[in-house]
Amino acid sequence: MRKLFLTFLTAIVLGFSSFAASPAPDEGMWLPMFVERLNWTDIQTMGLKLTPEELYSINNSSLKDAIVGLAAGSAPGGFFCTGEIVSDQGLIFTNHHCGYDVIQNHSTVEHDYLTDGFWAMKLEDELSNPALTASFLIRMEDLTAQILPLLSDTMSPKDRAAKVREITKPIKEAAAESGKYDVVVKSFYEGNEYYMFVYQTYKDVRLVGAPPESIGKFGGDTDNWMWPRHTGDFSIFRVYSAPDGSPAEYSKENVPFKPRHHLPISLKGYEKNDYAMVWGYPGSTDRYLTSYGVEFAMDKKNPAIIDVFGKVLENMKVYMDSDPALRIEYASDYAGIANSWKYFIGQTKGLKNLDVKSKKEKTEQQFATWVKASADRKAKYGKVLEDVKNSYVSMTGIVTPFYYLAIGSGQISLFEMPRQAIQLSGLLEDSKENKAAIEESTKAMKEGAEDYYKNFNASMDKDLLKSMLKMFKAKLTPEQLPDVFTTINKKFKGNIDAYVDDMYEKSIFASKDKMMKFLNKPSKKTLDNDPAFAANQAFMSSMMKYQGDFSKGESTVDQNMRLFIAALREMNPDKKYFPDANSTMRFTYGTVEDYYPADAIHYDYVTNLAGVMEKEDPKNPEFVVPSKLKELFKAKDFGQYGKDGKMITCFLTTNDITGGNSGSPVINGNGELIGIAFDGNWEAMSGDIAFETELQRTINVDIRYVLFIIDKYAGAKNLINELTLVK
Ligand code: ARG
Repeated sequence: MRKLFLTFLTAIVLGFSSFAASPAPDEGMWLPMFVERLNWTDIQTMGLKLTPEELYSINNSSLKDAIVGLAAGSAPGGFFCTGEIVSDQGLIFTNHHCGYDVIQNHSTVEHDYLTDGFWAMKLEDELSNPALTASFLIRMEDLTAQILPLLSDTMSPKDRAAKVREITKPIKEAAAESGKYDVVVKSFYEGNEYYMFVYQTYKDVRLVGAPPESIGKFGGDTDNWMWPRHTGDFSIFRVYSAPDGSPAEYSKENVPFKPRHHLPISLKGYEKNDYAMVWGYPGSTDRYLTSYGVEFAMDKKNPAIIDVFGKVLENMKVYMDSDPALRIEYASDYAGIANSWKYFIGQTKGLKNLDVKSKKEKTEQQFATWVKASADRKAKYGKVLEDVKNSYVSMTGIVTPFYYLAIGSGQISLFEMPRQAIQLSGLLEDSKENKAAIEESTKAMKEGAEDYYKNFNASMDKDLLKSMLKMFKAKLTPEQLPDVFTTINKKFKGNIDAYVDDMYEKSIFASKDKMMKFLNKPSKKTLDNDPAFAANQAFMSSMMKYQGDFSKGESTVDQNMRLFIAALREMNPDKKYFPDANSTMRFTYGTVEDYYPADAIHYDYVTNLAGVMEKEDPKNPEFVVPSKLKELFKAKDFGQYGKDGKMITCFLTTNDITGGNSGSPVINGNGELIGIAFDGNWEAMSGDIAFETELQRTINVDIRYVLFIIDKYAGAKNLINELTLVK
């Protein structure tokens, strides 16, 4: 379920193209390769003492060498989170919510590291994680001049992409140095520029430490995306390498990795207005989105996503609350969906409250005036906005059924195996001819089934399918409903519950035994008569009805966004436009700053441990405070990490970040770590679409709180001793 959800979410988050108004002072996710092109005098005046070469160098060790992209896979095209190297032994700090999935995977009811935390007091205790990788950026290179002259405006986006792959194949191969590096080429400004990224990817990344959820996720989903915050959102990992320093799969022989650079840690804190920069891997933004795209998101896309995710969460919670093993098993899926669900609620609110549509319209009017002033421009850009508008109009009628059906049916576990069985069903048309292929296909399915049924919870899944079908019935028109409703109406007199109960009772896919029996002796007839197989087919064919038009609309938008962005840069040649986030290394600079969220309300830029005690609620799992933490607070036993008898927990900066930046280092003007970025704030949740200088803040956990928890709460002095502390 998790994978599917992630894939689809990535598709919806990344699927829509974009465009931005003028970057405000703190706005900007800059490519480190171009640091020297920025207004260096301004940055130095703000407080940065390092030189561009000390930040990003391909010949010497530089700050960028302490930044890692975290991924679940060996050749990363993107990163789910960021981490930073903090010792010469490859120690990584990132967020607790970035390590959450790993921590959950190591947890059982007996050893519940989510609830109790985990601390390795020596290297041998550190826990390996098969899928987790940490990538270092070796260098990046501008390939625009090699690519653009070979593309043309008349090529379809698909043909362009194919051409780009063809052109870059030999370049990538050469850069990979026979497998030493992973090489990725990405499009920037919607296909106006192309850059290559060369990574070295380490495959042995071990869990070293994590606070209990009551610290690492304190405030839970209630406080998520909000300030004032009191969350110790950090976890600790370590990169291991082969004895010669090269990347290697997990092995006992591996040794802690010797990094080119690690971040020193400042215990001195910061004041309001102090310089702060964040380095990391922001995943995706939509800053160039048009007013039509804003309306589409607000009115069509987001409501469907919010509705479906809300139901999924409701259903999961019932089961998680009923059984401690299920609570652990689904903890990470739940947290991920809850996070996205609240994100889309906040984004929708933000787009409305901050009237983002009008702001976009203003830019579009300027653009239209500029285009009208010249015949050349009219020829090149004259139809851009109209085409974008028409594409959204064409998608408007189908987006609701498309999203409900795609996201909704994607959440149903029972349909996973039928999806795999489609190929087998085709082969079974001629079982003699396809004997070998059938054997191969059933073998693969059997292997998959072993894992699949370990996590398959029929009751929970059954309830979810019932809720989904009821929701579809309420939200879609009769013509938009998938064909299963014909069966429901004819065979089950409209009774959805009876239909679903019957499906789980009869389908071979709902039982491992039946599934394995079938795979030993597969028959076409069994598949044809199977209710889950039929239901999955019905959902797929409903979605197919919309998929074509939907993709066409999206692709037209993409094509025009490329022109739109090119035009804007032409129109304002002095303005520095930064490319939307695309999971490549960026840095953003700003200052430590408070804000005014609403009339007459002022939010300070720091929170304190005292606030944790104020929020404590032993009856609410999101606000439980561990007794050890209460004791330390009462005794004011903050060690070298406190200040004036207070323990600061979190703080705010004006940096421009988004999902994927989670775990990113917040670094002061001397290149020292002062915090770990972990969230954005509620009042500016539309920030991925339009940056709000006055309102938008990055929420960080103060590095002194992190060290206080490691040292005083967990007693892991071994880890403190590894760090380079600046006092
Ligand atoms: N909002 C944070 C992000 O997207 C995730 C915070 C996780 N915490 C939670 N309560 N789910 O990076």
